[in-house]
Amino acid sequence: MIFYNNISYDKKMFQLFVLYLFFSCVSARRYPEEYYPGNYYNQEEARINAALEKLDTDDSPQYVPNWPNTTIKLGQVSGVAIDNSGHTLVFHRGSNTWDATTFSMRNIYQFIGDPPIPQPTILVFNETGELVDSWGQNLFYMPHGITADREGNVWVTDVALHQVFKFTPQSRTQPALVLGEKFVPRDDDYHFCKPSAVAVLASGDFFVADGYCNARVVKFARDGSKILQWGKRSSGRFGDSAFVLNVPHALALAEDRGELCVADRERGRVACFRADSGAFSGAFRSWLVGPKLYSVAYAPVDGGRLYIVNGPRLSAVPSRGYVIDYASGRLVDTFAAAGGFSSPHDVAVSPDGGSIYVAELDPHRVYKFADSRNGTKEPGVNVTHAKPTATVEARGLILNGPGEGVGVSGASGGSSGAWGAWGGALGGALAAAGATLLVALCRARNTGKARRGEPLLH
Ligand SMILES: *[C@@H]1O[C@H](CO)[C@@H](O)[C@H](O)[C@H]1NC(C)=O
Ligand SMILES: *[C@@H]1O[C@H](CO)[C@@H](O)[C@H](O)[C@H]1NC(C)=O
Ligand SMILES: *[C@@H]1O[C@H](CO)[C@@H](O)[C@H](O)[C@H]1NC(C)=O
Ligand SMILES: *[C@@H]1O[C@H](CO)[C@@H](O)[C@H](O)[C@H]1NC(C)=O
Repeated sequence: MIFYNNISYDKKMFQLFVLYLFFSCVSARRYPEEYYPGNYYNQEEARINAALEKLDTDDSPQYVPNWPNTTIKLGQVSGVAIDNSGHTLVFHRGSNTWDATTFSMRNIYQFIGDPPIPQPTILVFNETGELVDSWGQNLFYMPHGITADREGNVWVTDVALHQVFKFTPQSRTQPALVLGEKFVPRDDDYHFCKPSAVAVLASGDFFVADGYCNARVVKFARDGSKILQWGKRSSGRFGDSAFVLNVPHALALAEDRGELCVADRERGRVACFRADSGAFSGAFRSWLVGPKLYSVAYAPVDGGRLYIVNGPRLSAVPSRGYVIDYASGRLVDTFAAAGGFSSPHDVAVSPDGGSIYVAELDPHRVYKFADSRNGTKEPGVNVTHAKPTATVEARGLILNGPGEGVGVSGASGGSSGAWGAWGGALGGALAAAGATLLVALCRARNTGKARRGEPLLH
């Protein structure tokens, strides 16, 4: 912050500084791009393009056009999964959409009196993209996550109902297991609050990501009795704890590694935990992925690979799919529809890594990608993919980095050393309090602004 570094902190300058804060707060606009030395934005774009160029090769997963059959009409597509027969399950919201009127401030669904979605919300496609089955009509209000276990059971979450459902292959109209109380959001052993996803172990034990308003992962035995939970809300006390979850949005089991990986959406990371104990084992994050990470899938190929989609394009980084090499933690590949994604919400991958599916909320789409590596290439062979470029690292969020956020915190930091020079201890304290209040107000305002401006993509 050149402005603050050059300032000499006498009284006049301090007043100027407060005035500046006031005006920058009132106008609350981003600094013009030229404000950043060395053409920051151009550099960032060049850096992103250079990284993508290295990742996006002829061997990268290729978009498969006309999948599924283009005559299929979809609502907001919230989930995608692959079942044990290789069919693709698509979970969509039919005529319902999640917008600002959908829930009260207390997370109560606002249209409880309405009938559930009348269209089949679960569509089943074969490899060539033809609809082979459809069900899930008159059951759900706001579909979110879907997964299939190896016994052919299908598990879904509904964020309006605050419930988790298991359907056996024999009964697609009557769930075999229901967890949570219909329309009642809470944080205890018998309730969820907008649960987002399920993952099922070979043993039948399963995990629920809970969710938008609770900050936990809950493990259940196959009969639905609770085994353990972990995860906590962000707060000053917990700081950057690995266990802080900010919208656990999707789950991926890496059973060969004994781990459960969580797409920790608003922290922009994949956090992996021991599936037996919930102990933290590691997290993946990349500047190229940016501040939001919506979903994660896992394939036990080439020593383990994670497939992720990042959030809607709110920052400099594009919205795409990425492949992470589990062992090294490096981004090794990328995929996207032509021109990138708009609001990818979920990702699924076949166990051999050969087929990747991405569900997008808006436009209402499902994309298929075919990866020619197809699990047939042995690791250790001259794999061109393995040229890592963008290593997974922690870095300031691009969205909050160069914008108002840094300007404001830089100001409070830089000015704190100046209070003594400005006046007596009391005056200094008062001024500090005043400036802090101003900064806080400014922040609140900017935060509110950012929130309001954000598309509602749940
Ligand atoms: C797509 O589905 C429609 C309706 O079921 C069918 O008539 C058509 O042949 C399908 N398209 C392809 C390419 O199979
Ligand atoms: C997919 O289903 C369509 C229609 O039932 C069928 O013609 C096609 O052969 C199937 N494709 C595969 C790979 O099974
Ligand atoms: C995957 O491998 C199988 C057999 O090795 C091959 O038949 C198939 O065409 C491959 N799929 C793709 C998408 O390359
Ligand atoms: C792998 O390496 C061998 C020998 O070095 C070479 O002949 C072959 O073309 C390479 N394959 C690929 C896919 O690069």
